[in-house]
Amino acid sequence: MPSTDRRTFLEVAAASGTALALGLLPSPPPRPAPRSGASLRILILGGTGFIGPYQVQYALGRGHTVTLFNRGRTNPHLFPDVEKLVGDRDGDLSALEGRRWDVVIDNSASDPTRVERSAKLLQDTVDLYLFVSTRSVYYDTSRVPMTVDADVFSFENTSVAPGARLPYGLAKALSEQKTRELFPGRALIVRPSLIVGPGDLTDRFTYWPVRIERGGEVLAPGDGSDYVQIIDARDLSEWMIRLAEQRATGTYNALGPQTPWSFAGLLHGIKAVTTADARFTWVDTDFLLANDVRPYREMPVWMPARDGREGFGRFDISREVALGLTFRPLAVTARDTLDYYHAQSEERQQELRAGIAPEREAEVLRLWHARPR
Ligand SMILES: NC(=O)c1ccc[n+]([C@@H]2O[C@H](COP(=O)([O-])OP(=O)(O)OC[C@H]3O[C@@H](n4cnc5c(N)ncnc54)[C@H](OP(=O)(O)O)[C@@H]3O)[C@@H](O)[C@H]2O)c1
Repeated sequence: MPSTDRRTFLEVAAASGTALALGLLPSPPPRPAPRSGASLRILILGGTGFIGPYQVQYALGRGHTVTLFNRGRTNPHLFPDVEKLVGDRDGDLSALEGRRWDVVIDNSASDPTRVERSAKLLQDTVDLYLFVSTRSVYYDTSRVPMTVDADVFSFENTSVAPGARLPYGLAKALSEQKTRELFPGRALIVRPSLIVGPGDLTDRFTYWPVRIERGGEVLAPGDGSDYVQIIDARDLSEWMIRLAEQRATGTYNALGPQTPWSFAGLLHGIKAVTTADARFTWVDTDFLLANDVRPYREMPVWMPARDGREGFGRFDISREVALGLTFRPLAVTARDTLDYYHAQSEERQQELRAGIAPEREAEVLRLWHARPR
């Protein structure tokens, strides 16, 4: 096999997980070690949306005690045997008063005021505050590789009118700051990239397995070489519990894999778990932009590595891997996402919430084939 073909083959095989089965790549990371140390009392602010249920399941499985704090609106049927405190991050927090926990995991704040209120209330009764932040805090994603010390959004580098609603990235960056201020030396900040897998209600990653499974000619963005790093909700949630067990502190990114996939690797890896006859037509980035097909919007997950976004899919996560971050094979994420999608009602399956509409995709492909050469 010529070396380029072999490289593509290895990349696709790695993305789909088949390389492991073929013995072409090193074995996957060992299963996480059994829990060492005492069982923890964990408070989750939230816990019943997307990542929360995976955190709860994994924590209970490792012998920890879990308490949830939320309004009781989202999936109230979940975890009947887990303690649930009812309150509101923007209102009544009294259910949290006078209680002790080892760790609080804050899933439900994208607002520094929310963090300030809960962190003030808990600072004398909880040892560690884990704040779930985001890759969107980075002001500058041009560095290759990206690391946790890159600049984040601040009032100085953003023009936000006084009293205006804070943009997401700035709000999360300020929330991180509040966490560190109120839990000095006891703050743990985790910055995930796009969180994907079964249970995701946004359909951003889901668009691709669903579209590929439909088959036929698939509009694929760029030339296939742009880098991708995402995180399966289960890998993220389980890692957070293990970080809490280690009493880790500091700031970490949560995305992978360590050697990023190319977009071609991602799409071929997803295709490998289907029996679809999908054929990818790679459409030039400039052509897509000129036709209003926007990265991350109509083409979810995709971010062209240019214009200050060169590092967006190229984070160095050696620190995180050393602290136990592991990754399921893409094949598992893609297959489980499809199974989750097909378990939804017909109506829900019809209303995919992300990605280009089929008629528009066909139109862009028609324009691409008809372009002057
Ligand atoms: N999705 C992504 O790709 C992505 C990427 C990077 C970072 N993130 C971050 O990851 C986190 C993901 O959260 P998740 O939704 O999966 O977490 P989750 O803990 O599973 O679900 C959100 C919880 O927040 C509770 N909640 C919402 N509003 C509340 C309020 N006013 N007071 C009290 N509780 C409230 C909800 O319950 P009730 O409705 O019953 O109150 C629910 O239990 C977020 O912080 C997000 O910014 C997401």
